[in-house]
Amino acid sequence: MDPLTALGAALAAAHFGTPLAYYAVAKRWLKTPWRVKLDPSYAPAVTVAIPTCNEARHIEEKLEDIYRQDYPRDRLEIIVVDSASSDGTAEKARRWGAAHPDADVKVVEEPQRRGKASALNAALAMARGEVFVVTDADCRWPQRDALRRAVSWLADPGVGAVTCLKKPAADGPAGVETGYRDRYNVLRLAESKKWATSIFHGELAAYRTELLRKIGGFPLDIGADDSHTATQIALMGYRAIAAEDLWCVEAVPRSGYHRWRIRRAQHLLQHFLKTPVEEAPPPMRPILLAEKYLHHANPWLLPAAVAALAAAATPPALALLATGAAALVFRSYRAWTAAQLYLMAAAVKNLRDKELVWEKQDK
Ligand code: GDD
Ligand code: MN
Repeated sequence: MDPLTALGAALAAAHFGTPLAYYAVAKRWLKTPWRVKLDPSYAPAVTVAIPTCNEARHIEEKLEDIYRQDYPRDRLEIIVVDSASSDGTAEKARRWGAAHPDADVKVVEEPQRRGKASALNAALAMARGEVFVVTDADCRWPQRDALRRAVSWLADPGVGAVTCLKKPAADGPAGVETGYRDRYNVLRLAESKKWATSIFHGELAAYRTELLRKIGGFPLDIGADDSHTATQIALMGYRAIAAEDLWCVEAVPRSGYHRWRIRRAQHLLQHFLKTPVEEAPPPMRPILLAEKYLHHANPWLLPAAVAALAAAATPPALALLATGAAALVFRSYRAWTAAQLYLMAAAVKNLRDKELVWEKQDK
């Protein structure tokens, strides 16, 4: 085989082989026990923080969603932090609070939009709960006992943070959203069982309030505020887990899907860039190492492989390229390829603009 064909084949093998190997390892972790002492009756004071920026369409339903929870109402505080919405979000939240005097709803209005993390820090500063829960305005909790389930994992003093698994509300273009989520959830669960997952979800993320305060709150320079705080808590030696019995439905944008995926990839890249593997407790190190590699380095092997094979233009090289293109009929492969493109676009965009304050994609 000529050297260029061999190089292209080797790059392709590494690009696809490493994540497959990691997935195989993760499947083994999935079979191990949790080593967490759950207590479904544990009911500490909880603060639910909802950051909002132009969420008038969603805020009432979101508040209803929390109100419907079977969590003891006298132990539940809701803080809406609105950043200068122009659509009357704060006003709607305040009116909802007045109409539900049995719910403890506080509405904080920031005169200026300084980003989601900054809004969450305002909520954290005044939170009375032992547990601090973050939820996006535009997502739903399909389980009436979502809060109780989340909190029950925190009954174990070794667990510092808990998040949900995600079901997309729509398939996304060419099914790439669902294709991506299936594998993704397996990884989140497997990493959680091993020690901690370094990717958390703003749909429902519950933290021990004191630990959030200890790490200085939500980071102002990293878009993935949810994942980064959870990971910092894991670096302190606590478990940060996606719970197997906790599901959220994630709204998928009707337009601007690609931009949305790229922005979120930008935020994850920022998070992994600032996460030091060597400071992690030993069981967390392989997880962080794999995720950092898969997000930052591995995507680039794909265009390198394609370029080498195209330049070689030998019959085996062309056959490999044709196979790679034909495989796009498979949804998981399509989802994988799309994710690689989003990550590369995100890395480039991060050089110019970190998108820490972003334009909302309509859902
Ligand atoms: N107060 C405030 N100030 N809230 C904000 C701001 C802000 O500057 N920017 C966004 N939010 C709120 C939104 O109103 C929404 O409730 C939540 O933060 C998430 O923002 P979306 O615009 O809906 O973003 P998403 O659907 O892509 O969210 C996902 O990705 C984000 C990171 O890219 C979720 O996982 C988020 O939790 C995550 O932060
Ligand atoms: Mn959203």
